[in-house]
Amino acid sequence: MCVCVCVCVREREREREREREREREMGGWRGILGFDYGIVQAPLGPDISGPELVAAVANAGGLGLLRAPDWESPEYLRGLIRKTRTLTDKPFGIGLVLAFPHKENLKAILDERVAVLQVYWGECTEELVLEAHQAGVKVVPQVGSFEEAKKAINVGVDAIIVQGREAGGHVIGQDALISLVPRVVDLVGGGGIPVIAAGGIVDGRGYVAALALGAQGVCLGTRFLATDESNAHPTYKRKLLELEETEYTDVFGRARWPGAPQRVLKTPFFAQLTTLPSDENETNQPIIGHSTIHDMEKDIPRLAGTVPNAKATGDIESMAMYAGQGVGLIKEILPVREVVERLVAEAQFLISHF
Ligand SMILES: Cc1cc2nc3c(=O)[nH]c(=O)nc-3n(C[C@H](O)[C@H](O)[C@H](O)COP(=O)(O)O)c2cc1C
Repeated sequence: MCVCVCVCVREREREREREREREREMGGWRGILGFDYGIVQAPLGPDISGPELVAAVANAGGLGLLRAPDWESPEYLRGLIRKTRTLTDKPFGIGLVLAFPHKENLKAILDERVAVLQVYWGECTEELVLEAHQAGVKVVPQVGSFEEAKKAINVGVDAIIVQGREAGGHVIGQDALISLVPRVVDLVGGGGIPVIAAGGIVDGRGYVAALALGAQGVCLGTRFLATDESNAHPTYKRKLLELEETEYTDVFGRARWPGAPQRVLKTPFFAQLTTLPSDENETNQPIIGHSTIHDMEKDIPRLAGTVPNAKATGDIESMAMYAGQGVGLIKEILPVREVVERLVAEAQFLISHF
């Protein structure tokens, strides 16, 4: 009887060791940059990824990214970082869009020594990387092309998020993830810079597909938008479950951020906007709502690139709603912990059953 139990226990241990070995061989779903898992929550502008979402991702073992305002507001930003620290003792990061004024904000981020600075849409210079490294902050740009990835590697970044055209929100490149990720992985070679795939990934299948392309992690925006902790308006969250189609467009926010196309949910409002003359933009449209964004009172004109946050009022259904092509796979608003746990469990299951 006793011998039998011992044999069973040993066999179970051997099976667990074999499973761990398989995971090690497949690499990947394990952590990057010191985080438990290779799961990154994209910064969600304008203020959809606030302290609650970021802390929940950090507490679940992923890398959560706050979003800095598109205007200089260093004291507000320090407050945002400190509030996040009251909700988690785990490291987290912050996303900065370089196309907007950011010098003072950058200083605040480096002074506060967040773990990771994510940058997007602008030049990630060697000086910026050096300054961040001197402050002990890792730099992770999001790129949308092979050329942009090459420049990032040359200035010494710590990891690269590769964004495919499938992605929700602003889309910087034209390539699909399936061809761009392996090209960047080959470019990095043995250089030790983790490549993180972004665009259309919402579940363990997408996660494992990204690993098969050579990525070490995944960055998800739309899946984390559809969580209890995101600061998106309830109507926006509901639309993410109801609607399945997205479109690549430039009709939103043309004046404020020219030349910056977006992937949006094909809402009834968007679907009836068949064409838009090139001289039309949000500056010659009626005000359809209001909100408080990063502590600032804002009017929201029709065609603004402002997705509705929880405080938005007015004609919410006619506001821009960014979403990636994976939105049709999202069937529930979930707590962040469940999103992360499901991603890891599904990835582990798929890897061990290949
Ligand atoms: C609502 C929304 C807001 C976004 N805002 C930002 C942003 O401020 N900065 C940024 O680097 N990326 C932003 N993105 C793009 C993400 O970084 C990422 O590339 C994208 O979410 C990945 O595709 P997915 O949404 O299909 O997961 C945003 C995406 C969404 C859906």
